[in-house]
Amino acid sequence: MIEFKGVTKQYKDGFQALKDINLKLETGKIHVIIGPSGCGKSTTMKLINRLITPTNGSVYINNEDISSMNPVHLRRKIGYVIQNIGLFPHMSIADNVAVVPRLLKWKEDRTQKKIDELLSLVHLDPETYRKRKPAELSGGQAQRIGVIRALAAEPEIILMDEPFSALDPISREKLQNELVSLQEELRKTIVFVTHDMDEAIKIADNIILMKDGEVIQSGTPDTILRHPANDFIKEFIGKKRLKEHNTELVQGFEMEEIPTVSEVMIENPATAYPERGLAASLRLMEQRKVDSLIVISQQKELLGYAPILNVLSQYRDETKTLGDVMQPFVHTVAPDSPFTAALDLMSHKDIPYVPIVAENGKFAGVVTRGSMVRLMADVFPYENEVAE
Ligand SMILES: Nc1ncnc2c1ncn2[C@@H]1O[C@H](COP(=O)(O)OP(=O)(O)O)[C@@H](O)[C@H]1O
Ligand SMILES: [Mg+2]
Repeated sequence: MIEFKGVTKQYKDGFQALKDINLKLETGKIHVIIGPSGCGKSTTMKLINRLITPTNGSVYINNEDISSMNPVHLRRKIGYVIQNIGLFPHMSIADNVAVVPRLLKWKEDRTQKKIDELLSLVHLDPETYRKRKPAELSGGQAQRIGVIRALAAEPEIILMDEPFSALDPISREKLQNELVSLQEELRKTIVFVTHDMDEAIKIADNIILMKDGEVIQSGTPDTILRHPANDFIKEFIGKKRLKEHNTELVQGFEMEEIPTVSEVMIENPATAYPERGLAASLRLMEQRKVDSLIVISQQKELLGYAPILNVLSQYRDETKTLGDVMQPFVHTVAPDSPFTAALDLMSHKDIPYVPIVAENGKFAGVVTRGSMVRLMADVFPYENEVAE
């Protein structure tokens, strides 16, 4: 557990950045610190790895006051990821990931094994990426390296300061998903700073809302959505953020071939984990403009779907989550089936969408009536033009 007791921070110029911070951050959870720019999020985070020392009060890790620890040793035990990750440009990806293990004088074969394991963990093929230089990566890939570099020395605590803020919305969503599934395996204590409420709701076990150097409220995403402590939080939650729409356009195809469902499916429909609270679920539906959520496990297995009516009917019970209100899918289709298989199901069974499940049991996407409409628009493109 990380604990802040009566922590204040006054910078040298006299600015009071933090006023009496008291926090308990439970081990093995994702804690998201959120609040407007300048409210003291980064200051709070940097107190944990002693990049900043408190003016008053103390920070404890597992009941030990960190002011009595050697700061260099402390930092090597805490992973740190920042927005512009600062990979060393002249070093290969492997060497970048290996920085802390080598400082810690790990045996070289252990380090090499770790590099490959971590690259695979974020779906970057070690053979391909080990030797690349940072400049040869996309923004999303570089940020993945930032994340695994922080994981390399197997720290118990990872600090992430707006790590995905500079990414485009699609890469950002992917990295959020990866972080959640990584955490399922690793169970680290993660402190994550963001100013994006959607990001916080998506990844947090615990949200800490800050304003002007103070903690205004903390709790689970569902609690904060249901019981915002004051108008400031209501406004902060309610802020409409521009989110690029994740609808992927259907690719054109040869007229002679019948396309497969994988060619027409939507790969990123609105999905959620079964642990998601009902208030947080309604919010996601509102954002994605859908009337049901597809429920998947962290391992991407399809569990069922939760129509909005099920969510609303149990909404009063704050202990309920999506897992309690979802229902199973009766029909699924394989990605390489002809799309007519999905079409048949939708028209004969009167269901609005069909989930696609790959051979390995992983959820791959959905075919909706909307995907059919787009497909038709591709097949008969000029009908639209004539109508102009
Ligand atoms: N070294 C410093 N000296 C003086 N003021 C600072 C210093 N670092 C940060 N601040 C001020 O402290 C406040 C909190 O900063 P910070 O924790 O970085 O905010 P956040 O991460 O929430 O945007 C801001 O008003 C910032 O200008
Ligand atoms: Mg900051």
